[in-house]
Amino acid sequence: MARGLLVSDHPLLNDLYSFNLKAFVDLELMVKTSLSEALTVLRGGSQGDIIITLSRINDEDCGESIVDTLEELKADTPVVVIGERSSVSNTNKVYTLPPNLNVPIVVKKSAEILGVTAKDMMAKEVPDHYPVALSLMENFDVSPCEIFVLVSKTSTSGEFVKLCDSGAPFQGKVREYKEKGTVKLYIPSSERLKVVNQVSKIVIEKLDDPSLEPDDRIRATESGYDLVGGLLGEAKEVTPEVIKISKKCMEAVANIIKEVPRVKGLLLTILDNKTGYLYLHSVMGTYIARHIVREISWGSEEHAEKLSFVFFFHDMFLAPIFSKHPSLQFEEDVIFKEELSDKEKEVVLNHARLASEMIKTFPRCPMGSDAIILQHHGMTNGVGFTLDYKDDISPLAKVLIVSEAFVEELIRYKDANKGPDLEHVIEVLRAKFTKHTYKKIIDCLETISF
Ligand SMILES: [Fe+2]
Ligand SMILES: [Fe+2]
Repeated sequence: MARGLLVSDHPLLNDLYSFNLKAFVDLELMVKTSLSEALTVLRGGSQGDIIITLSRINDEDCGESIVDTLEELKADTPVVVIGERSSVSNTNKVYTLPPNLNVPIVVKKSAEILGVTAKDMMAKEVPDHYPVALSLMENFDVSPCEIFVLVSKTSTSGEFVKLCDSGAPFQGKVREYKEKGTVKLYIPSSERLKVVNQVSKIVIEKLDDPSLEPDDRIRATESGYDLVGGLLGEAKEVTPEVIKISKKCMEAVANIIKEVPRVKGLLLTILDNKTGYLYLHSVMGTYIARHIVREISWGSEEHAEKLSFVFFFHDMFLAPIFSKHPSLQFEEDVIFKEELSDKEKEVVLNHARLASEMIKTFPRCPMGSDAIILQHHGMTNGVGFTLDYKDDISPLAKVLIVSEAFVEELIRYKDANKGPDLEHVIEVLRAKFTKHTYKKIIDCLETISF
């Protein structure tokens, strides 16, 4: 086994590189997320057989500092620089690789430097299985790689059976498992980046297709929503991929809202759609909230836009939990469910704060949306759920809270197999939110149409 040093502050990259290099090249990487830590390792002489570094981290030229330090120490460890923003990029002092998330290139280059041949690589153990939401796999007509199903699980390992080979039509089988209640399928871990890329591409293409029927658009957007939830749950970071997919989804939600009423009432259309609770309540909530700011005296188009953005992201950190436990519904009850692990409950309690922190790193995030997300369960610190709705939160957070409560009531009607009764729903809301500022918001709901 070879050892090496990876210098990168990008959590997703670190995971992918570490995992893949271990699996294919048997290279064990020590990860350092800052240049200063990396230089300490170098000075201690424990960098191993190879150094892989991002060209820059923040303002620091990592490539240059590492090369200089190695020269100073008279060490000849090979250096791979990812990206072209270092002064040593594209010089003969280092190996330069493109700055994108291209795992195969990094694997190939590292194998070449370490003298690992393709034959050695083939002989390596098959890597682990990586879980993907079944709903995402529904986007493929033929399987993008081998697909597995988990048949039994112990605390340390799982037993998998192969569902199909790469390139096989597999939708029939996916439907079969879906009906049995399976929510996750598994792919070889080495294929995961390829599959994520392909799904995003398919989802984006679908969302761009103007001829898509509203029902299909709703489902395609849900795939995007799940995809963003999965990526964020894994890396807790806004990557270019996350940005691209979320933007498309928000556009699509705006289109759904614009187009659907012509066909049939929007709320009823979405309510009838077989989508997950979380996504459903986000899209419906967007519609209700936009209606409120159109009706309320101080509302503007800018508020409507902000609320669309906020609704898309406010519960994103719950998405992986809801997709694992598809029977979950109303957020406030989730915390009491026994099927959730302590760690999952922790995320539920903190999901408003987590999303609010994440959203700040989103490019051109609408002003104040982090505060609205932080307060969306009535708590000013974004932790927990309030039972007593107070006045000390932002007006748009109140709009969001009332919209969500409205949607929850509609879903209760649906669960009871009844058509919604607007008058009754409004009564329930008035009893729940007694403060004057909420009353004005609730008044706006009287003109909503289904
Ligand atoms: Fe929430
Ligand atoms: Fe929510």
